[in-house]
Amino acid sequence: MSECGAMPDTERSERRERLLVEALRGEVPAHVAIIMDGNGRWAESRGLPRWEGHREGAKAVREAVVASLEVGVRQLTLYAFSNENWLRPATEIAALMDLLVEYAASEVEELRERGVRVRVFGDLERLAPEARAAVQRLEAATGAGEKMSLNLAISYGSRSEIARAARRLVEQALAGALRPEEVDAERFARELYTAGWPDPDLLIRTSGEQRVSNFLLWQIAYAELLVTPVLWPDFDQTHFFEAVLEYQRRERRYGRVEV
Ligand code: IPE
Ligand code: IPE
Ligand code: MG
Repeated sequence: MSECGAMPDTERSERRERLLVEALRGEVPAHVAIIMDGNGRWAESRGLPRWEGHREGAKAVREAVVASLEVGVRQLTLYAFSNENWLRPATEIAALMDLLVEYAASEVEELRERGVRVRVFGDLERLAPEARAAVQRLEAATGAGEKMSLNLAISYGSRSEIARAARRLVEQALAGALRPEEVDAERFARELYTAGWPDPDLLIRTSGEQRVSNFLLWQIAYAELLVTPVLWPDFDQTHFFEAVLEYQRRERRYGRVEV
């Protein structure tokens, strides 16, 4: 992906339009998932505290939502806070939670107007009551949105999600409501947070790290993976459309061969 930091605004918006038109000519991924990484490095490279990177990262979320709506993505799933992120310093966790509360309040109207339904998934019991209430309000206020789902993974870890699904199946079996032979991949997927959602078609990770960091391990079985060196706060609509164009150049085979 190209960098265009030095580009004047008009040139940038013309380029954005060109990329959007081009992306709209091809098949747009129905579900895009993003590991939003690099906020800390963005801030540190400017001599700023890490939370400034997170604040800038929240602006990039807005860019990704608008880009998704314009290009016709139906589901946008963002990794906002992992189970492992609870191991970060308390001050950084507090800054992230404050931003979450702020984001929920500042974006709710626009998201509702644009027809975006927000769904939050993860171990929400671990959130402070204020943060939990904020995301619940956001979900409730946007529940009728039909244009796109914005799915936010918060306090999320894929291994715990899978273990939780197994536990729920065992409970049903012990209660006599499920026979072991009924458990297959499709039945298992119905116990995940993502039950009923299509799997991601495209998984983007920003900031160059080539790993999935416990994100949607089950669901990305056949996702196209795209790692970009761009740090999350710098990831704008042009980067998003470029990612869609890259997706359109991929050949998805699902293990089959052409006949
Ligand atoms: C991503 O940015 C945001 C969260 C994980 C919450 P990081 O905070 O991980 O930024 P880097 O990877 O340290 O640059
Ligand atoms: C993944 O980023 C989690 C989120 C983007 C929320 P991390 O920065 O936590 O992942 P690692 O530590 O680089 O694997
Ligand atoms: Mg990181």
